[in-house]
Amino acid sequence: MSGYPEIRLRRLRLTAPRRRLFDEPLPGPEKFIWPVFVGAGRNLKEPIHAMPGQYRYSVDTLLSALEQPVREGIGGILLFGLSGANRKDGKGSEAWRDDAPVQRAVRAVKKNFPHLVVFTDVCLCAYTHHGHCGPLRRDGQVDNDAACACLARVAVSHAGAGADGVAPSAMMDGQVITIHRALVEARFLDTLLMSYSTKFASSLYGPFREAEQSAPQSGDRQGYQTSYRAPALALRESEMDEAEGADILMVKPALFYLDVIARLRQNTQLPLAAYNVSGEYAMLIAAADRNMGDLKALVRESLFAIHRAGADLIISYWAGRYGEVVL
Ligand code: PBG
Ligand code: ZN
Repeated sequence: MSGYPEIRLRRLRLTAPRRRLFDEPLPGPEKFIWPVFVGAGRNLKEPIHAMPGQYRYSVDTLLSALEQPVREGIGGILLFGLSGANRKDGKGSEAWRDDAPVQRAVRAVKKNFPHLVVFTDVCLCAYTHHGHCGPLRRDGQVDNDAACACLARVAVSHAGAGADGVAPSAMMDGQVITIHRALVEARFLDTLLMSYSTKFASSLYGPFREAEQSAPQSGDRQGYQTSYRAPALALRESEMDEAEGADILMVKPALFYLDVIARLRQNTQLPLAAYNVSGEYAMLIAAADRNMGDLKALVRESLFAIHRAGADLIISYWAGRYGEVVL
């Protein structure tokens, strides 16, 4: 007996109660990290037009916004700081000020929600007036080693505020080892280092750059973010970060890069995060708004795909709406 008509695979999925037996669960809320934007001031809850349902918060409103997702059991957040045109400079020095929005938010969130794992994005593009992820050389390229030194200051400042983990996203060579050494030197021995290790130069970051006002004022990021047409180099970026002491690796974006997630999963023992980015979030909303699909069904199917590819953690704007769109 090796096939039809005796063997009928539909038996296993014929009814909802049977499917329930065999279907694997969606990833639980504890696997999700919510990226959130925090700026200066008070009482700020400003809608981000390109990302319906996501807001720019101040520290006080962020605490209120976290209540529901924390009740639903999400694992953590990833904090992004907002600057202002008048506070930006050539190297992004607001990023390592101890009283900047991210540092203040870390202290407040850890005090109010001690069981939430708080990661901080470590980059400079939201703080530089030119919008690149580090200071520029005369020829317009980012000065790699100067950027690493700045990123280390940012990471130490975030760790000092009490962040559980720092997440460098600038794609500079040596950023992981430089931050690692700086954390050790400052005796922050328990701070996690989640590297944006395989981060592609992608057209899916547009809504985020609107939210952060962090788009490069000239050129693009292809000189540091990795190319989707050179997959071996993209995997090597993660290998290097593992060798430099990253605790968690990441693939970003997620949905166009499921093959990369799956391959990396085979090649590392480290926990692997996937970043379901702003453009992926916005696309599903745009489709659902035009009656081209049901939002909740689209969200569940896409999140399961990321999970199936092998991501241990999912960094997603949907985490802030977990009960509404996933359960
Ligand atoms: C900054 C950074 C970006 C994102 C996360 N960190 C934008 C970029 O690299 O241009 C994108 C996140 C998203 O689109 O959701 N280095
Ligand atoms: Zn950046």
